[in-house]
Amino acid sequence: MYICVCNAISERHVQEAIAQGAKDLGDLQAQLGVATCCGQCAETATDYLPGGRYATDAAPSSAVGPDQVVQIPLLASTEIRRVA
Ligand code: FES
Repeated sequence: MYICVCNAISERHVQEAIAQGAKDLGDLQAQLGVATCCGQCAETATDYLPGGRYATDAAPSSAVGPDQVVQIPLLASTEIRRVA
């Protein structure tokens, strides 16, 4: 999935930059160029940073016990309407 359409930067690019040490939006802008054109992607890119709702700093599934609850972030929402 593309996060930054202006610069063709995908979710994977952002996640890799963060894994390599990007700590804030400024780092992502410097390393990838994300949010350097229209800026519409800035909030979404920030959500991938540590503490953000799409951050991948959650425990791996193999470390989750049978009684633990794991929250899985939704990347998109879909409106469902009943047609009758
Ligand atoms: S969508 Fe990222 S700068 Fe426009």
